[in-house]
Amino acid sequence: MKTDFLIVGSGIAGLSLAIKLSELGRVTIITKKQKAESNTNYAQGGIASVFGSDDTYDLHIQDTLDCGAGLCHLDAVEKIVTEGPVRIKELMELGVNFSKDHGHISLGKEGGHSRNRILHSKDLTGKEIERALLHKVASISRIKVYEYYFAIDLLTPRNLKRKKSKEKNICYGIYAYNVNSNKVEKIVSNYTILASGGLGQVYTHTTNPAIATGDGFAIGYRGGCDIANMEFVQFHPTALYENKEVHDSQVFLISEAVRGAGAILKNRDGKEFMHKYDKRKSLAPRDIVARAIDAEMKKRGDTNVFLDMRHIDKKEILNHFPNIYKHCLKIGIDVTKQMVPVVPAAHYSCGGIKTDLHGKTNVKNLFACGEVTMTGVHGANRLASNSLLEAVVFSNSISEYFKKNYKKDKKENLTKLYSDILSWNSKGTVNTEEWILISHNKKEIKEIMSDYVGIVRNTIRLQRANRRILMMKDEIREFYKKTKVSVELLELRNLVTVAALIIESAMKRKESRGLHYMLDYPMRDDKYFSKDTIITKQIKNN
Ligand code: SIN
Repeated sequence: MKTDFLIVGSGIAGLSLAIKLSELGRVTIITKKQKAESNTNYAQGGIASVFGSDDTYDLHIQDTLDCGAGLCHLDAVEKIVTEGPVRIKELMELGVNFSKDHGHISLGKEGGHSRNRILHSKDLTGKEIERALLHKVASISRIKVYEYYFAIDLLTPRNLKRKKSKEKNICYGIYAYNVNSNKVEKIVSNYTILASGGLGQVYTHTTNPAIATGDGFAIGYRGGCDIANMEFVQFHPTALYENKEVHDSQVFLISEAVRGAGAILKNRDGKEFMHKYDKRKSLAPRDIVARAIDAEMKKRGDTNVFLDMRHIDKKEILNHFPNIYKHCLKIGIDVTKQMVPVVPAAHYSCGGIKTDLHGKTNVKNLFACGEVTMTGVHGANRLASNSLLEAVVFSNSISEYFKKNYKKDKKENLTKLYSDILSWNSKGTVNTEEWILISHNKKEIKEIMSDYVGIVRNTIRLQRANRRILMMKDEIREFYKKTKVSVELLELRNLVTVAALIIESAMKRKESRGLHYMLDYPMRDDKYFSKDTIITKQIKNN
C-alpha cells in the first residue's frame, strides 16, 4: 500500500485527524481490531473545557498545572485550554450529542477541577464521540480504514534495499501484520502518525481494553523516538472490585464523575477516610485518592474500599450514570441501595513519545497524537478528562501544520520508495507451538509491574523489577527472532518494551512527584521546578 498519510489507531485522535487531513490527501487508517475498539470507546467521564459562566481559562490552566505537580509545559496547557471550546464545538457540529440540563450543556465535576467543566454524554462519552467520528469517516472517500492490521515497526533507512539514505532518523511508513491474510505488508507513506492509544495492559488490573498493549510507545521507541515521563502511570481510584478472574485484565470503571455528583469513599465499616489525606476529600486529584485507598487497604488488610452513592437522588443516577447503574445491577449491586466495592486500576499513561506543539516527533515524517504522546500537557499527573481534549486539540494542530507545509514539503516518490524498501523477511522463523511461553510471560510482566512498579514504589522494588524485565526482554527478543509473527507475540514484545521503559524512567526519577510515589523520597510538590525524564533511543541500537 502507498498513501499520503498513514494513521495508526482509530480512537478520537486518529479519527479526528483523518477527517481533517483528508482535505489534503489520501488517508489510510490501520487498526489492529475492529475500528470502534479503542481506549476512547471506554472513556466514561467526558471532556474538560471552559463552558461554565463561573469558569475561566486561567482556572482550568491552574487546575491542570496543580495536578501536574511541576512538570506540565505551560505552552501545551494553555493551548489545550484556550483552543478547547472551538474544538468541542466542531465535535458538536459533527453530531456528538453532549448531555444537556434544561437546554444548556450539562457540566459535570471531577477530581482536581475547581469548577464544573466536564462535558459528557451521560456516562458513555467516549462511545458517543467514537460513533460520531466513525460516521463522518465513513462518508469520506479519501479515508480508507483497514481493520485487523497490526503495526509492527516503522519503515526506516535500515529497511532500504540499498542503505543510501542521507537521513538516519526518518520514517517511510510501517510494516503491518495483516491478521486476516496472515502476511506482513509494507505500507509506505509520506507521513506517518502514531495515534495508537495506551498501555494499561502492562498491569494486572486496568480500566483499558485488551488492545491497550502499548504498541505505539514500543514502535516509536524502536524506531528512534525520544520517549519521556513514562514513570507517570495514572491509576484510576475507582474501578469496580469483583472477586473473580478478570478477562485480559480489564475491569469496569466507576467514573470519577460519580464522585463529582457527590459519591463518597468509605471503608468496609462505612466510615469516611479521605479527610485524613486531603481537604478536597473524595474529589482530590487521582494520585492522592489512589494512594489513600491503597494505604487504607494495606492498613486494614482489605481487598477494596467502597463508593457510597446511596444519598444521591435516584433520578440523577439513572439520568447521568445509566451504564454504571445497569452494569452494577447485572452483577447484583443496586447502587441506589448498596455501597459499590472499588479498587484502583491502571488507567492512563501521562508519558509517551515526545512531541512538539504540532505533534512532531524527533523522527522525520513521523507525528504522534493522543495517549501515546508526551506533549507536556499532563506533567506528573493528568487532570481528569483532559485527555480527550488533548487529542482533539493536538490532532487539529497537526492538521494545521500540514495545511501550511504539505504543498511545499519535499515528498518521496511513493512508487519508487515502495520498491526500494525490503519486503518482510520471515526466513528462519517457524510457527510456534509454545503458546504457554507467551501467555506465561505476559502474566509475569503484569505481576512484576503490579507488585513492584504500581502506586507505591521504592528503589529496591524498582531494581528487582528491572532485573526481571530485562531478562525477559532478552528472552522474548530471541523468541521473536525465531518465530512467525502473530498478534499475541507482537503484543508480548511491545508489553515487555513498555514495561522496561516505565521502569527505566522510574529509576531515573529520584524523587516522589505526582503519580511517581517512592517510599524512599519525600513527596515534592514544588510547582514549576522539575524536568521531564527523557529516554533517548539511539538509532544504531534499533
Ligand atoms: C472517568 O470517567 O473517571 C475517567 C475520565 C478520565 O480518565 O479522564
